[in-house]
Amino acid sequence: MRTEELIEKEKKYLMRTYDRPALVLDRGEGMKVWDLEGREYYDFVGGIAVNALGYSHPKLVQAIKEQAEKLIHCSNLYHSEPQIALAQRLVELSCGDKVFLANSGAEVNEGAIKLTIKYFKEQGKDKHQLIYMKNSFHGRTIAALAATGQYHYQKDYLSILPKFKEAIFNDLDSVKATLDREVAAIIVEPVQGEGGIHLATPGFMRGLRKLCDQEGILLIFDEIQCGLGRTGKMFAYEHYGVEPDILTVAKSLGGGIPLGALIAKDKIASAFHPGDHGTTFGGNPLACAAALTTLKVIQEEDLVAESQRKGEYFKAQLESLKEKYPQKIKEVRGLGLMLGMELAEEGQEIVRQGLKKGVLINCTAKKVLRFLPPLIVEKKEIDYLIEVLDKIFKET
Ligand SMILES: Cc1ncc(COP(=O)(O)O)c(C=O)c1O
Repeated sequence: MRTEELIEKEKKYLMRTYDRPALVLDRGEGMKVWDLEGREYYDFVGGIAVNALGYSHPKLVQAIKEQAEKLIHCSNLYHSEPQIALAQRLVELSCGDKVFLANSGAEVNEGAIKLTIKYFKEQGKDKHQLIYMKNSFHGRTIAALAATGQYHYQKDYLSILPKFKEAIFNDLDSVKATLDREVAAIIVEPVQGEGGIHLATPGFMRGLRKLCDQEGILLIFDEIQCGLGRTGKMFAYEHYGVEPDILTVAKSLGGGIPLGALIAKDKIASAFHPGDHGTTFGGNPLACAAALTTLKVIQEEDLVAESQRKGEYFKAQLESLKEKYPQKIKEVRGLGLMLGMELAEEGQEIVRQGLKKGVLINCTAKKVLRFLPPLIVEKKEIDYLIEVLDKIFKET
């Protein structure tokens, strides 16, 4: 009853930007989350790749409590220790030298685009074009949306979007064909998430790096979804042995507290001077303390290796479902705990059936079931999901 009342109230007060199932999530612990009616679910969406440590990890809760009692926010007019410590940690972990902290994925991609343009401006060059990939997703703010290669997200706003250039993912020739003197950078997700879990090929990644070096343009990797251990490496680019000039991360960074990081090589980062870019909330002490603890727990619990190990097991189980239901399942793809199962038909009904049977799963690109569980997921929880999917495929 309370669920229905709340959903009615939501209709009155919230803009209808989401099409949500009729459940109100109330609390979570580890891999499990409960709704207001007390129903329990195993969560294989993980807050869309955010809840890397699962729900209510005691160390994360403790760190947030301690920081909240000390200093939640002080603006970027002043220095704060958690922000400096987090920047240091991100530099130690990644191929970058300097960090800018903001509140979300879209915001750090906007920052990456501004930094790129400013970098060339400083050299007296007017390079303001970006090459992005078809099927990509980089966020819903204006420049990030202009770089998002999915027409349905862009269509109503085309009149105000900058006209960036679209190339075909994993097709180096198409990237070369779109290159011209105005191009400043190429932006790519090493593993496309929202677009349906598509992996870049090693040849494509190496080819992009070579092309950028030859042309003197920048390579931006958006690891907002695939970064921070998700694919079984700290950063997905490590699978390819190719480093970007600019790297963006967000999602799991703050353990659920909104936070994104724009990370760049020194010579690029130095194009930003005081006043060139900024944010009120970005990198506040609370978010940074949460991020420092998230990264610490990822290390202490060896979650990057776990992601690789559990991911292999998970993928093998999905493959066996594919063998059992070849008419219904077209392909299984992914790396680590970023997995996709492409269906022959649309997947929303499977998501609905999953809910009824106590699992949260997500469907993206209409036909791809996307699995992004917390990195703490256990084998028995994967087995439970596979059993549920097996039943659903049998019944539908
Ligand atoms: C690869 C990628 N980039 C950017 C974004 C945008 O992040 P946010 O929703 O935090 O703005 C997302 C979100 O799904 C993403 O997956």
